[in-house]
Amino acid sequence: MSDIGRVAVLGLGTMGSGIAQVAAASGYEVTALETDRSRLDAGLAALGTFLDGGVERGKITQAERDGTFARIRPVTDAAELAGCDLVIEAVTERAEVKRELFGAVAAVVAEDALLVTNTSALSVTDLAASVPGPGRFAGLHFFNPAPLMKVVEVVRALQTAPESVERLVAFVGSLGKEPIIVKDRPGFLVNHLLMPYLNDVIAEYDGELADAEDIDTAVRLGLGHRLGPLELLDLIGLDVHLHATQSAYEATLDPRFAPPPLLRQMVAAGHLGRKSGQGFRTGGEDVR
Ligand SMILES: NC(=O)c1ccc[n+]([C@@H]2O[C@H](COP(=O)([O-])OP(=O)(O)OC[C@H]3O[C@@H](n4cnc5c(N)ncnc54)[C@H](O)[C@@H]3O)[C@@H](O)[C@H]2O)c1
Repeated sequence: MSDIGRVAVLGLGTMGSGIAQVAAASGYEVTALETDRSRLDAGLAALGTFLDGGVERGKITQAERDGTFARIRPVTDAAELAGCDLVIEAVTERAEVKRELFGAVAAVVAEDALLVTNTSALSVTDLAASVPGPGRFAGLHFFNPAPLMKVVEVVRALQTAPESVERLVAFVGSLGKEPIIVKDRPGFLVNHLLMPYLNDVIAEYDGELADAEDIDTAVRLGLGHRLGPLELLDLIGLDVHLHATQSAYEATLDPRFAPPPLLRQMVAAGHLGRKSGQGFRTGGEDVR
């Protein structure tokens, strides 16, 4: 059972709108903060479209949709977050933006309010260091799309108090999701395991172990994965994977994270996957 009453979500972009939806659908009163009214409207519109799809497919009733929507209070002033017990930050992936916002929020919420970041690549421990009362600070890493993905990583910074981890685990459980407790390491757990795997696949593909389609087919049918690694890379974006694995390499000097040469070359050539029309499995060209 979660002891959280009111939840704040900072940023109503791709992740924040999904997280706000999940919390409101689970019965929490949600205060959603954005920089301005037009961003709020865009986030609420995306959220509304997602919920409407649920009604059309018979997953939720119209009354449930309306109830979820009504529990989200959109605001543009951090002072409105007073009284929130848990603040989930999902703003732009820039440490200075997050730090400044946490400073403003910490000044208005109670001393025991939990503060969490949904960052994918920044150090949770570094962010915790700039927050008053870092024992109540942690990572809560939702996956995209948040309403559909069932796992949430509870990231323990060096400073996070055990009681904060317990409260977050209970909160994630109350959303009907599976909490996984993990240390603050580059990529946390899922991406920490995924990055070396994808790098290895790219190197093997470059070494002509097999064709791209055969690699994906073998992994889907042989390992039971929903997506093969090369189609997954096209979906993620090769630039996104390069940035993540390069950051992890710089943070650890672990050679498993070192970007393979073909990955760098493809990004330099503008072959970014689905978004650019050419990748490993997109565009039909064998790029080796
Ligand atoms: N997109 C993903 O697949 C994914 C998955 C997991 C985690 N994340 C993480 O979630 C966070 C958000 O990513 P996203 O993809 O949703 O980004 P996004 O660009 O879609 O949304 C960010 C939102 O934050 C708002 N914002 C910026 N500064 C703000 C401020 N000071 N106050 C209030 N709102 C502010 C922006 O207006 C924007 O709407 C990042 O830290 C990212 O690393 C992203």
